[in-house]
Amino acid sequence: MIRTAIRTVIPTRRTGRSPRAAASLAAALAVLGGLLAGCAPETGGVRGTPGASGLRDPYFAKLGNGGYDVGRYALDLAYDPDTGRLDGTARITARATQDLSAFNLDLSGLTVAGATVDGAPAAVNRAGTELTLRPRDELPRGREFTVTVEYAGVPEPLTDPDGSVEGWLRSAGGAVAVGEPAGSMTWFPGNHHPSDKAAYEIALTAPSGLTALSNGVRVSAGPVSGGRTRTVWRQPEPMASYLATVMIGRYATTTGTALGEVPVVTAVEPELVSATAGLRAELPALLARQRDRFGPYPFSAAGAVVTADGPLGYALETQTRPVFPAGSFDRTTLVHELAHQWFGNSVTPASWQDIWLNEGFATYAEWLYAEDHGSVPAADSFAAAFAEDANWAFPPADPPTAENLFDPPVYQRGAMVLHKLREAVGDRVFDELLRGWAAKYRHANASTEDFTAYAESVAGRDLDAVWDVWLYGRARPRTP
Ligand code: ARG
Ligand code: ZN
Repeated sequence: MIRTAIRTVIPTRRTGRSPRAAASLAAALAVLGGLLAGCAPETGGVRGTPGASGLRDPYFAKLGNGGYDVGRYALDLAYDPDTGRLDGTARITARATQDLSAFNLDLSGLTVAGATVDGAPAAVNRAGTELTLRPRDELPRGREFTVTVEYAGVPEPLTDPDGSVEGWLRSAGGAVAVGEPAGSMTWFPGNHHPSDKAAYEIALTAPSGLTALSNGVRVSAGPVSGGRTRTVWRQPEPMASYLATVMIGRYATTTGTALGEVPVVTAVEPELVSATAGLRAELPALLARQRDRFGPYPFSAAGAVVTADGPLGYALETQTRPVFPAGSFDRTTLVHELAHQWFGNSVTPASWQDIWLNEGFATYAEWLYAEDHGSVPAADSFAAAFAEDANWAFPPADPPTAENLFDPPVYQRGAMVLHKLREAVGDRVFDELLRGWAAKYRHANASTEDFTAYAESVAGRDLDAVWDVWLYGRARPRTP
């Protein structure tokens, strides 16, 4: 579902990238598509054109697709840890946002056996990570339709521009699947841009000795043929595809509740049970503290998963159930990934350029935690970040390339923006602002401009002095 439109034209204040050439090319192609459709024999009176093959994200032009809006994914995944083979059926319910003759899904690797649209076989074409489906009948704008894609193979992880590895990662006897920013397309076909959030149901079939976890609440688990168990997880609130996750392995799970009624599932590999028990037990209290600061917890489930150090090289805020390699399961990182449930997962970036809205806020949550519990004032965290040369490589609102999306300026200078905002408006208004931001864009998408406009509306004045220096400015000011 798309709650706020992705901005394809970057305001003049942003520098560097101009998607305008791409936009006019896309417009020309749309016109050409329209002409071709006009020449084609009429089928049902609809003159559809193909949906765009990408959303022209400034960093990943081909991520996501145009012409439809996904409401729900139902993924049925069977995994064989011995061979690494994944057998999948994706059932995607979407609504056409234009008269549609064909549309794309993003899928990297794997083999597609066939696809249907509303039960009728669809023509399938693949080029790179674009899977094009042409339904037998065109889809008029506004029509809800259901796509099924049958696929299989050994998923191949992606190596990101920054060298990190993501996607479906094989672990000893199991797998961990993650997807920020683009790895989810290695394990299911979809509209893999954060601007199209949807509900998910993920069913996992794996050998019965293993535990299979995903996002949200577990709705069923039962034996199926071949000594396997099928476990179904449901994530009813909207989720960006980069936050979908799967963990299959010999996990020991613990269940409980947080915030009165939210079911909590934590899972750890057996050898990590005792070392992680203390911090796992703190999770409900950490969530309650953040609820007091940031407003109502946005999801109907919570938890954490700790994997052995190995295939996954970093912690990730996968929705409701963040995942940590053992070496990163510490209190600061837990506070960071839990804060992302509000900032990133519920309020999701409109495009990857807005990533500081995730990482700057989650880093500031660490500073707030240290201020309240470690007696390190946020001003000291700010001063330390100010002094660090690496934080001045680029402004947080404008990472130069996809390689830089998770670099120190996005995290540390992102947090510095919030600290300067706090200084400008005072603690009381700042608290209101954090809660108000999470409330106003709850379960939606937001851009940097949405944030600056929102902050100014709450402050009741223009805050250019903060934005010009800390959000958009290139040089380190002489004084903090
Ligand atoms: N969002 C993760 C965090 O909480 C980091 C993801 C890093 N991904 C990457 N491709 N480098 O900090
Ligand atoms: Zn983060």
